[in-house]
Amino acid sequence: MIVLGIETSCDETAAAVVSFSEGAGGRILSNVVLSQLDEHRPYGGIVPEVAARAHLQHVDRLVAEAMETAGVKFTDLDAVAATGGPGLIGGVIVGVMTAKAIAVAANLPFMAVNHLEGHALSARLEAEQPPEFPYLLLLVSGGHCQLLTVEGVGRYRRLGTTIDDALGEAFDKVAKMLGLGYPGGPAVEAAAEGGDGARFALPRPMKGRPGCDFSFSGLKTAVRHAVEKLPEGSLEAQDIADLCAAFQDAAADTLADRTDHALDTFMDAHPGGQVLVVAGGVAANEAIRSRLGKLVEARNFRLVVPPQALCTDNAAMIAWAGIERLGAQGPGAADGLDFAPRPRWPLDPDAPAAAFAGVKA
Ligand code: KG4
Ligand code: ZN
Repeated sequence: MIVLGIETSCDETAAAVVSFSEGAGGRILSNVVLSQLDEHRPYGGIVPEVAARAHLQHVDRLVAEAMETAGVKFTDLDAVAATGGPGLIGGVIVGVMTAKAIAVAANLPFMAVNHLEGHALSARLEAEQPPEFPYLLLLVSGGHCQLLTVEGVGRYRRLGTTIDDALGEAFDKVAKMLGLGYPGGPAVEAAAEGGDGARFALPRPMKGRPGCDFSFSGLKTAVRHAVEKLPEGSLEAQDIADLCAAFQDAAADTLADRTDHALDTFMDAHPGGQVLVVAGGVAANEAIRSRLGKLVEARNFRLVVPPQALCTDNAAMIAWAGIERLGAQGPGAADGLDFAPRPRWPLDPDAPAAAFAGVKA
């Protein structure tokens, strides 16, 4: 089975070809990602209109590059899969229309993949020991912060979500406040290295509360207040390092507390489960990984974090989700060409909406 994947839901334009065979499992034949960082940097964040135009400008070339690198022709493909949501609608439309056009021209099944399903299943692609279902998933990115039980392909139960900001978003906003530029996550992590996390006392929102929901808006505001309390114009490199370390500690602590609760719920429902998968851009953070590593070790769980290229947004995970769906459901997994892009598309349709999280829930 060979599937072309296309990802355009945020600020990465991406195309990839992934194959599957019984013997070799999933193999990434090509994985091309064009980050739009330079386009968005002057604004300190992603501008949806700028993103959509950049996707339109580059997607054809990236698809051609992915096909050429993989050494396959459209006639070799079994399906073409594109992110159908959730995400910035202008970008999603570009990817979906591109995939539909290829599907029509090459007479292939078209598949609209939920971007979150791509993240949820990415740990099973090219892993030495692919996690079996069910597993617990912590999805932490710029657009989402959720804890989900992955029961099988297409079967997800949301245990918790952010009720306001996503954690990656909070990293980005803190970075902006401290003049560290965009994207903020890696910059905050680098700055935190020389910092003393104990100098500033920051809150751990939701810690100790029942359930598995997150909130990061108050933590971000607490950083702002700490900055404002410093003598005006005196924000030195050491202050920035200490604030970043304190913020990162608070974030890791909160994630660990919420994940600890989710592990209880998960183990009640699935006593045989043993794996926590952490996916999304924030999973790149070493301090957070090590904190979660300690947590699962104490529980005799295994922590699985996909390689960086599969954690941040990419199209290989979209092609792979297409392959997983075809494997689980057969040809009936294909979508009609009348599929309409979905800016909002929760993985668990039964989960309640979170008032201030919008599409993030
Ligand atoms: O998964 P991703 O590439 O895109 C979304 O779907 O959002 O995640 C991007 C997010 C950004 O907010 C970025 O600041 C954050 O992941 N991020 C990090 C790190 N690397 C990326 N956050 C904390 N520490 C990092 N090392
Ligand atoms: Zn993502």
